[in-house]
Amino acid sequence: MREQEINKLLENYDGAFYVYDIGKLKQRISFLRSSMPNKVSLCYAVKANTFVIKEIEKDLDRFEICSPGEANICRKLGVDTEKMVISGVYKTPYVIENMIKDKEFKGIYTVESMHQFEILCKFSEKYGRNVKVLLRLTNDSQFGINEEDIFEIIKNRERVNNIDILGIQYFSGTQKQSVKKLKRELTHLDEFLKRLEAELSYTAKELEYGTGFPVMYFEADEFNEEEFFKEFSELINSMEYRGKITLEIGRSMVADCGEYYTRIVDMKTNKGQNYLLIDGGMHQLVYYGQHMAMKQPYFAVCGKEKDKKDKLWNICGSLCSMNDIIVKQAAMPDIKIGDTLVFKNVGAYCSTEGISLFLSRDLPTVYLLNENNKIITVRSRIETEVFNTPNYERK
Ligand SMILES: Cc1ncc(COP(=O)(O)O)c(C=O)c1O
Repeated sequence: MREQEINKLLENYDGAFYVYDIGKLKQRISFLRSSMPNKVSLCYAVKANTFVIKEIEKDLDRFEICSPGEANICRKLGVDTEKMVISGVYKTPYVIENMIKDKEFKGIYTVESMHQFEILCKFSEKYGRNVKVLLRLTNDSQFGINEEDIFEIIKNRERVNNIDILGIQYFSGTQKQSVKKLKRELTHLDEFLKRLEAELSYTAKELEYGTGFPVMYFEADEFNEEEFFKEFSELINSMEYRGKITLEIGRSMVADCGEYYTRIVDMKTNKGQNYLLIDGGMHQLVYYGQHMAMKQPYFAVCGKEKDKKDKLWNICGSLCSMNDIIVKQAAMPDIKIGDTLVFKNVGAYCSTEGISLFLSRDLPTVYLLNENNKIITVRSRIETEVFNTPNYERK
């Protein structure tokens, strides 16, 4: 059934495309839930993939939103505003004002700086609206605020009438493969929350934690995810903090639901090296941790999955850039121009993070494969030259 639907897309092929398998995504969410302690809520970081939001709105507790554009997408898709966490280092004052004055909007804001806190206080005062915030603790980067500043805000919490400080948010990076690192962070957060309680009589109701759970993108990767999640759950359960815990997850939730289909458009041998050119490329295919195309991601040649792989090829994209190499020295079956390659684990960040406008190539079509194995087109191909064309008529 699934295969038939994909074959239909391949018959009507007019350029590289993504397919996001919603059934698989929902299974992944259930797996994540069942792997975590019951008390833990799940928040989806929508930057990873905005195309699947509507399909999983009911399956998740929160959506982390980092820009006005992401906020608009979520509003248009009907995401419950109570589930929205408005995050990010630059919250446009205009956008914040509009959200605060909008009675329909009931989301939470993270506080990334003292300046942001002032803006939130100003507008909550101006419109007499109660505003819920999470204070983002810095991980020694441009994100979040210092412990002392958090202390300062909480110490003076009685002075700000309309601000409800729910607790702390923390995110320090992605693709964290070491439970030890997660342990260090959770221990630190636990101690910090204890200090707030002991020194300021402030009990955080919430901790929102971006786990940065890893995804195994390459065939050589070795990782026991079940064991990893078991150890992580033990860490959560051993915390002294007893309030609500929400895990902010992007990559680990959506990566494996996505496939990217791209066709071989040229083949050649230059100075003894075999090159095949695809109509897609690195602007649409992003594998975190890929280094000089040395690692082999999970991919196959459609219809030739079981064939013997007896020749090495360098798979190159269609950008005019020497960097546009997807894999070096990949063993492949007997291939020809017109064959389609399918790359796996592309559900996270590929459609949102790629350098899509480089060389004014089209943006790929995006299909969802729904739970009944029916294909839904949620974005047609988009020409991008308009974004790179100067407009002299503009006033
Ligand atoms: C604040 C915040 N939370 C969560 C995430 C999601 O991270 P990941 O995709 O590693 O789960 C990010 C990613 O940049 C982030 O900035």
